[in-house]
Amino acid sequence: MGHRMSPERSQSGLAIYPGSFDPVTNGHLDLITRGAKIFDRMIVAVAQNLDKDPLFALKERVEMLEAVTYEMRNVEVDVFDGLLMDYARAKGARAVLRGIRAVSDYEYELQMAMMNRKIEPDIETVFMLPAEAYSFLSSRLVRELARLGGTERLKDLVPAVVEQHLRAKVG
Ligand code: PNS
Repeated sequence: MGHRMSPERSQSGLAIYPGSFDPVTNGHLDLITRGAKIFDRMIVAVAQNLDKDPLFALKERVEMLEAVTYEMRNVEVDVFDGLLMDYARAKGARAVLRGIRAVSDYEYELQMAMMNRKIEPDIETVFMLPAEAYSFLSSRLVRELARLGGTERLKDLVPAVVEQHLRAKVG
């Protein structure tokens, strides 16, 4: 007999993993896998409104994410519009998950996390580190590499389904 926590107290609840996912990379997938081990449930939330035109339409970004998370039983894919924290609150999330690769990510992430805390103080931003192999990887560089360097160079950087979509897109 001991002081075991009740199952309820040991639960880490729902986390939202938001982003543009234009397109999802192996770095995102690494983070989703890590997050899914920590949280009971995760929603990968694709932002509908981006500052600039995405390469992939919302529907395609969602389809690729659904394909790569298909076997993860506690991971769902959804879209959101407007403020992330309004969406997270409506879903009953306890945390927002973000990945930090290098120090250069930190300043932007700090600003966003602090703004989000001001909007919704009860939802924590949780930062996780991707595997070292992906610490240089970004959707922006993947798009550039596909456009200028050829899609055969994308192996190991994006899932196969994303490689196919990129090939279809950039030729
Ligand atoms: O993958 P990204 O582009 O780094 O994701 C950024 C994203 C979509 C998570 C962020 O821009 C966002 O949350 N946008 C929704 C609007 C919002 O809530 N902004 C932060 C508070 S002003």
